[in-house]
Amino acid sequence: MSKLNPLNWSRKWQIIGGVGATVIIVAVIVGAVEGSKSSESGSYPDYSALNYTISERMNGTTFFDHFNYYTDADPSNGAVVYLSEESATWSNLTYAGESSAILRVDSTSSGITNRNSVRITSKNQWDTGLFVFDVIHSPYGCGTWPAVWLSDPDNWPTNGEIDVIEAVEQGNKGNQMTLHTSEGCTMKAKREETGTVSGTNCWNSTNDNEGCGVFGTKSSYGEALNEAGGGLFAVELRDAGIRMWMFDRSSPPSDLTSTNDSSPDPSGWGTPVADFPSTHCDISDHFSNQSIIANIDLCGDWAGSTAVYSTEYGCSGTCADLVSGNGTAFENAYWEFASFRVWTSS
Ligand SMILES: *[C@@H]1O[C@H](CO)[C@@H](O)[C@H](O)[C@H]1NC(C)=O
Ligand SMILES: *[C@@H]1O[C@H](CO)[C@@H](O)[C@H](O)[C@H]1NC(C)=O
Ligand SMILES: *[C@@H]1O[C@H](CO)[C@@H](O)[C@H](O)[C@H]1NC(C)=O
Ligand SMILES: *[C@@H]1O[C@H](CO)[C@@H](O)[C@H](O)[C@H]1NC(C)=O
Ligand SMILES: *[C@@H]1O[C@H](CO)[C@@H](O)[C@H](O)[C@H]1NC(C)=O
Ligand SMILES: *[C@@H]1O[C@H](CO)[C@@H](O)[C@H](O)[C@H]1NC(C)=O
Ligand SMILES: *[C@@H]1O[C@H](CO)[C@@H](O)[C@H](O)[C@H]1NC(C)=O
Repeated sequence: MSKLNPLNWSRKWQIIGGVGATVIIVAVIVGAVEGSKSSESGSYPDYSALNYTISERMNGTTFFDHFNYYTDADPSNGAVVYLSEESATWSNLTYAGESSAILRVDSTSSGITNRNSVRITSKNQWDTGLFVFDVIHSPYGCGTWPAVWLSDPDNWPTNGEIDVIEAVEQGNKGNQMTLHTSEGCTMKAKREETGTVSGTNCWNSTNDNEGCGVFGTKSSYGEALNEAGGGLFAVELRDAGIRMWMFDRSSPPSDLTSTNDSSPDPSGWGTPVADFPSTHCDISDHFSNQSIIANIDLCGDWAGSTAVYSTEYGCSGTCADLVSGNGTAFENAYWEFASFRVWTSS
């Protein structure tokens, strides 16, 4: 689900919600069939190793210095007020310590319509690169719609959107990795990935802008991920394609473990969760000027739809009532990041 699109998706989710499982099963079958006929056109890209050098490291007490705080109304109709840097710091909704940075939703106010939250956008943008997000805690709980993603907010969907970490409500159905693009980008091709395909046309004007998505395992998000100490999410964005990995805290690749930023090499990381090859999608044409964005939305077009909130996830009452409650429901609605790192190849 795109977080930049102003349209209302409730109706779509009312239709889809009741048959969610069927949709996934059909998507798996369609994905498998499409994968097997891939040789008919285009060819699988050459993902041979590039030489990466560190471009930016965001960690420690200066973590938020790398970002601008977004303060406009939520484009996805969420029940949030996105705070300025000054307000977020003052109310401790963003807090950067030596070892981690926290980004959270207010969990103490009551009797409100929109709850305070945060949405940050990196000051720098990249056309290509290797991005690694070290996540200690992912936000979850009824009413939440958190994400870590890449996009050019001023040129959407022309310059593309890459959703790296995204889930709604309890987040117990697994992480979703999704692309949203302008016309002419599909994934009906051979792919080498471990995830479950949920859509193959990335163009925003198809399938109600569902995008081309891939689900990770059920434990790739939320409470299960947090109990395992979090994990590392990696994205390689290059002309050959876009690939995303997720690594357990306990077993990351040796070139991603330490503070040694020299030359990570995805070719040694094994099969990615999601593979978006350039076979039928000109990546350099569809993706440029990507900022890193992290936010926690509440309710809104996706998490707030009845079909998703109550029918699919079994959350009680209404999303609006939960938001206006005493806030205890949002005590787990926080991101904790150890670091974000970006490498580029010359
Ligand atoms: C990366 O660097 C190595 C050693 O300097 C060199 O042999 C190799 O050709 C380079 N690869 C690319 C893709 O530039
Ligand atoms: C702000 O949040 C951090 C992280 O949760 C916590 O360690 C710190 O004590 C909080 N500061 C205040 C003033 O509440
Ligand atoms: C943060 O990054 C710096 C390098 O820029 C490194 O020296 C430091 O150890 C890092 N801190 C943590 C907690 O990883
Ligand atoms: C897709 O993007 C186009 C071009 O910006 C925009 O006009 C259109 O409203 C978008 N459609 C959807 C369904 O997001
Ligand atoms: C960092 O890793 C590189 C590549 O693995 C290695 O050559 C280099 O010696 C390491 N640097 C330090 C300071 O450990
Ligand atoms: C990317 O941003 C640069 C600097 O603002 C701009 O010159 C360039 O046209 C942008 N590229 C695209 C494809 O929008
Ligand atoms: C806050 O709301 C929850 C859910 O309605 C309730 O269980 C809890 O007792 C409330 N806490 C306080 C301090 O009012």
